[in-house]
Amino acid sequence: MSVNRRTVVGGMVAAGASMTLAACAAEPEPAQTTPPSATVDQEPEESTGEILLGAASEVMVGSGTKFMVDSSLTVLVTQPRAGEFKAFSATCTHAGCIVNGVQDGQIACGCHGARFNVETGAAEAGPARSALGRITIEVRGEDLYALI
Ligand code: FES
Repeated sequence: MSVNRRTVVGGMVAAGASMTLAACAAEPEPAQTTPPSATVDQEPEESTGEILLGAASEVMVGSGTKFMVDSSLTVLVTQPRAGEFKAFSATCTHAGCIVNGVQDGQIACGCHGARFNVETGAAEAGPARSALGRITIEVRGEDLYALI
């Protein structure tokens, strides 16, 4: 049997390929994981954004209008002076009723008689001790937007 140079080189390449395949098969693939610190240290994302409440014309000067955003948020918008809008969570800080609106110059809750300031939302009378939650509001053209 004669062995020429091509046969020897071809045999060496085949043997090298076999060894490489064997080596690859023996090593486990690295797991695709995320380091624990990348998830443990992250704070949950809060949803933020702007919500179109409605037309500014729906809120009369010296009064207030409620806009239901969803089942967990109703926004009360007041207009103490022409063109000056304030917005609050309509959820009463006493026991969680939705306030009625503006009566006699104050935000009134009908459940137990709490009264709040129409400009600041501060508790002024009745059983509530803390202010209504303030909500940033913007007037764009004819529309009111809550920035949450
Ligand atoms: S829930 Fe508003 S006064 Fe009690």
